[in-house]
Amino acid sequence: MTLEAIRYSPGSLQILDQLQLPEHCHYEALSSVQQASEAIRAMKVRGAPAIALVGCLSLAMELRAGAGGPGLAALVAFVRDQLRLLVAARPTAVNMARAARDLGQVAAQEAEREGATEETVRERVIRFAEDMLEKDLKDNRSIGDLGARHLLEQTNPRGGKVTVLTHCNTGALATAGYGTALGVIRSLHEMGRLEHTFCTETRPYNQGARLTAFELVYEQIPATLITDSMAAAAMAHQGVSAVVVGADRVVANGDTANKIGTYQLAIVAKHHGVPFYVAAPSSSCDLHLETGKEIVIEERPSQELTDLNGVRIAAQGIRVWNPAFDVTPHELITGGIITELGVFAPEELRGALSASVFSEGQ
Ligand code: MRU
Repeated sequence: MTLEAIRYSPGSLQILDQLQLPEHCHYEALSSVQQASEAIRAMKVRGAPAIALVGCLSLAMELRAGAGGPGLAALVAFVRDQLRLLVAARPTAVNMARAARDLGQVAAQEAEREGATEETVRERVIRFAEDMLEKDLKDNRSIGDLGARHLLEQTNPRGGKVTVLTHCNTGALATAGYGTALGVIRSLHEMGRLEHTFCTETRPYNQGARLTAFELVYEQIPATLITDSMAAAAMAHQGVSAVVVGADRVVANGDTANKIGTYQLAIVAKHHGVPFYVAAPSSSCDLHLETGKEIVIEERPSQELTDLNGVRIAAQGIRVWNPAFDVTPHELITGGIITELGVFAPEELRGALSASVFSEGQ
């Protein structure tokens, strides 16, 4: 059985409640945008692509049940309002915002077509959301394959195995399947070229310890868990060949927002001469923003730092700063940005994406 964050068939949407992993594999049914926004905010489902998929599929669920309208204008307004709710749930990852822009346009264009009915508008939006699932899985397989080949050529052109360090969770649990950075690791393993994986615990939410470690054990991929503070020592003493992480938003100059702690990993990698890669679908790229300074960074509740499983571990009265993400400047992304369209140096990204079908709607 493969791990699935999202189970969808027309008229049924279920998410694996990631708050209960790794102890329990519990699927929760969602039938509305409101329920999906709450699940995203609570991090029952997380990871940039999975957030967008669940958001859009929850809208598809409502539309299939006949929500919105009456009348074409009211239906398009309903679609746009629901999408706004989803975008607001978590601000840093761009995937939901991009999908919202595309879906809003799809709905409006269909409504303007001669002969359009509420039925055809609903169908177009539903089909777009359903197609996203398939596309994400396909893109992740390309990212895995392209990334693995590039990484091997850069680090080990004469053959042999590589050791990769990764951060947070970017696997099947964060996507429609296979994963992005973890997809590269999966591909290396499938090619017989992976010596070992180091996955960071990823404080404060422990996506590494709870989710990535779970996926690696489940897939029997050789791996060791380290705390975030062990990354420099691992690079100094454990033969790390490359660092590969995911992204929540890659902007035009290549600056990348990803899980808090990514930035310091990139600095440490540069110090040790270890190539640092970002693996992300083009749906995580945002050419509307020029530099990482413009990215809104989500701040999460203080309890994520002060409490562990509901038990207070921090001194009472201490102040807390809990940004969920940080921005890695493009000059630290020394390996490249791995997308389904190819592997690019940060300064090549804008040109490469502008020249592709990606630029439609940008
Ligand atoms: O807060 P999270 O768990 O949603 O953060 C996830 C990450 O930072 C991932 O690296 C990113 O979304 C890419 S997932 C393919």
